[in-house]
Amino acid sequence: MTSIKVVAQSSALNSLPSSYAYSANRQVAAASDPDGSLPVIDFSLLTSGNPDQRAKVVHDLGKACEEWGFFLLTSYYGVTIRVSMLNFVQVVNHGMPETLVEKVFNASHEFFNLTEEEKKEFEGKHALDPIRCGTSFHNANKGKVLLWRDYLKVFSHPEFHFPNKPAGFSELAFEYSERTRKVARELLKGISESLGLEESYMDEALDLDSGVQVFAVNLYPPCPQPDLAIGVPPHTDHGLVTLMQNGVGGLQVQHKGKWLNVNALPNSIMVNTGDHLEIFSNGKYKSVMHRAVLNNSVTRITLVTPNGPSFDITVSPASKLVDNKSNPPAYKSMKYKEYLELQQNTPLDGIPCLDRVK
Ligand code: SIN
Ligand code: FE2
Repeated sequence: MTSIKVVAQSSALNSLPSSYAYSANRQVAAASDPDGSLPVIDFSLLTSGNPDQRAKVVHDLGKACEEWGFFLLTSYYGVTIRVSMLNFVQVVNHGMPETLVEKVFNASHEFFNLTEEEKKEFEGKHALDPIRCGTSFHNANKGKVLLWRDYLKVFSHPEFHFPNKPAGFSELAFEYSERTRKVARELLKGISESLGLEESYMDEALDLDSGVQVFAVNLYPPCPQPDLAIGVPPHTDHGLVTLMQNGVGGLQVQHKGKWLNVNALPNSIMVNTGDHLEIFSNGKYKSVMHRAVLNNSVTRITLVTPNGPSFDITVSPASKLVDNKSNPPAYKSMKYKEYLELQQNTPLDGIPCLDRVK
């Protein structure tokens, strides 16, 4: 299928090709800006070694997971970000990682600029192929409305896979994946504690040493009629936590039934909780519904890294969190790998895949 990059570049394109008409009625871009209440977590407090600070941030983390399933991370791997106002994030400590993020964005652009033929080599066929690139969505949505996005998705852990073009991208992506995985694992220790468990409990129960990480890059070129098309329709993520960075806004999260814009700058990290955290917490931390909307002026690239359990782990509600009388398990047990296959073959458009394991 022709990439969206090529479709969008067509000089004659001043209205949306009908195959991309997601909805004339759904008003996909209708969302409000949050009222200053997006949760913000200062990552450095998790790792500072000060028990009082840690207790406070673990409490805040639990609250963010329970009430939102979404938060902004400040101060990660050496970069301190000051959040002064809603959606206004300032980086106050410019270090190598900021350069790294910038380099990954640039290399991503170069990747999508490869010819259609060059990219074909990395297409992949099966949902669990280690490298997949393409346009629109996965199998279950083929033949339906097309999505206004191109993507590259690889498994970056436990084994790192990556296209060998453009030169240098693989090394940058490896470093980026490693660093984001470290951040995710620290967060998950804090989240484990916030559930009243030991910090290593989730780590051990889900074998996070061999945990699966996906590294995904999405490209959303300007769209002539952004309100009529969609980048990624409403869905929840598989896995435990997804970390995401973008240079141009477009992510919306659902909170108390309303869609909210999240316009964080590229240096901040947005975190959303996934289906397997919902299962593990027996429904206490719900997986958050989110979507990617479009604009008609600038190309948007997003870096997305979902972090999950090990492929072969059977995920169930944590045994310490359930009891058969007052809080019975609300989800069926399923291997992470099987869930991934199920999710990739389920049309994700507002209906949580998780409903299928209740
Ligand atoms: C996703 O949730 O899969 C992508 C979201 C985004 O690119 O904004
Ligand atoms: Fe997502």
